[in-house]
Amino acid sequence: MSVVVVGSGNVDLVSQVERIPSPGETVLSTGFATHSGGKGNNQATAAARAGAATTFVGAFGDDDNGARLRESLTESGVRTLVRTSDEPTGTALITVSTSGENAIVVNAGANATLTDLAPEERSAIAGADLVLMQLEIPLATVAAAAEIASGRVVLNAAPAQRLPEDLLANVDLLVVNEHEAALLGGADHLLTVVPAVVVTLGADGALVRTRDTTTEVPGITVDVVDTTGAGDTFCGALVAALDERRPLDEAVRFASVAAALSVRRAGAVPAIPTREEIDDFHPHD
Ligand code: RIB
Ligand code: NA
Repeated sequence: MSVVVVGSGNVDLVSQVERIPSPGETVLSTGFATHSGGKGNNQATAAARAGAATTFVGAFGDDDNGARLRESLTESGVRTLVRTSDEPTGTALITVSTSGENAIVVNAGANATLTDLAPEERSAIAGADLVLMQLEIPLATVAAAAEIASGRVVLNAAPAQRLPEDLLANVDLLVVNEHEAALLGGADHLLTVVPAVVVTLGADGALVRTRDTTTEVPGITVDVVDTTGAGDTFCGALVAALDERRPLDEAVRFASVAAALSVRRAGAVPAIPTREEIDDFHPHD
């Protein structure tokens, strides 16, 4: 059983603010930190911490940020199939408000150079039981990986963008938030192409949709510190549970716990829970 995550890695430059500034406005931050992040890196870390044998395929720069991301993945137990690019490691400029909301600008850097797949990357993808991807690397590479995968393909359509039907035709499970679902034509439309769709609803939980079933998974109430990476934590934990052959509804419950735990802590990678934390969590703790 194995998971391969193909995707991005960023170093997150995070400013804590009382509120996110409006256009033209300058605000003073109340704190600043750098964390490992990027949707691919976060999802690989979440899958590994949730207990899955996980490989990450991506591209980082030949710089301190790249070294930092490699180290962080290795520490979390992720096998890295990471190229070194001439472009700098991706960065994300993030502001997090007191209420835990965020605004993010991603500079793709090295992530944009992942325009093809090398033989070693292709064979890892082809051999995985589950392949998990997002949309911070070139779309053609996501489509190529979905095409060569022989295991289940899980796509998190974030950041939101329109997707070609031939990519969706190779997706077994799509994970989207409400905004992404709407941009892609809604869950009912998506289900004509993809057999299963999970719509995440933040604090309100998630909807698990297949062509003939709808299951509501209730939200878990926790004190919000920082929601950055909560969706990624959800996706990584979800594939880890699916890799253990848990049914989809149960895997979504497990993923919801992992995501809830992650919003209680600051930063993307630093907030991702371990398997022990997920298993030990009881909603009224
Ligand atoms: O999903 C959260 C991630 O989005 C952050 O870690 C940031 O790097 C951006 O890619
Ligand atoms: Na967090």
